[in-house]
Amino acid sequence: MSREIRVVSTLAALRAQVRQWRAAGHSIGFVPTMGNLHPGHLALVAQARQRADHCIVSIFVNPLQFGAGEDFVSYPRTLESDRQQLTVAEADLLFVPEVQELYPRGHAAQTRVEVPGLSDILCGESRPGHFVGVATVVCKLFNMVQPDVALFGEKDYQQLLVIRRMVEDLAMPIQVEGMATVREADGLAMSSRNGYLSPRERQQAPCLYRVLAQMAESIAVGRDDYAALEQQAIMDLRTAGLRPDYLSVRRTLDLAPPQATDRQLRVLAAVYLGTARLIDNLPVIRGSAD
Ligand code: PAF
Repeated sequence: MSREIRVVSTLAALRAQVRQWRAAGHSIGFVPTMGNLHPGHLALVAQARQRADHCIVSIFVNPLQFGAGEDFVSYPRTLESDRQQLTVAEADLLFVPEVQELYPRGHAAQTRVEVPGLSDILCGESRPGHFVGVATVVCKLFNMVQPDVALFGEKDYQQLLVIRRMVEDLAMPIQVEGMATVREADGLAMSSRNGYLSPRERQQAPCLYRVLAQMAESIAVGRDDYAALEQQAIMDLRTAGLRPDYLSVRRTLDLAPPQATDRQLRVLAAVYLGTARLIDNLPVIRGSAD
């Protein structure tokens, strides 16, 4: 039987524990989350435990990264089940700050961190301000936890790049690691927002993965008529009842549109299905299956 995970909600208690571990020369792995944990999060915890002496997980539904009319209020808050899962996963500390602890002057008055360019395309175009909210809260959490390594899922690939760029630009001494998306048996990327889907929508949802996988296969065998591939994929999504927000082939490195010589690519999409907005992406090397 695992020992109950320690839960702290104040910065003072978090810092006291971090100081103690640091004084003993121990390293810290960090998994920031918004809770409603699923096996994708637990894979990040397992990796953090491998990479560091202690694993800290945060659960904070960050108001600064939600736009007006988005799901901040309805976002699933499942602390008790999250706590149990983290105990079984043998994470060492759970940080669950209240909004006032993160934003004592209110989130609207908070100093912000912006990663220009990368934050304004794809999801950033549809959700203005979203990545400023993400970069700001992750920057604050990094300053609070002071981890050696931080783990993020590649399902939010654009978020991962925004955070990597922030860490590089601000010279933060933190290694940012991305981990492969964890999927359901039918290919649907695991996400806290999958719970918004009705049974019928849940059956339609894996179409997003299938369409991306088909595109990735075409590119792997050498196709580079990206605009035609994107158009076909958008039609396939619509036929399956999904409402595409965007679907695009980009360079892995910086999500810029690919040049003729680029081979390391990522196919990314966001769709609306019922009340849910689902995102997914797949890596592909052009011509790798030739
Ligand atoms: O990916 C998430 O759950 C959130 O965007 C993060 C990184 C915890 C910041 O709030």
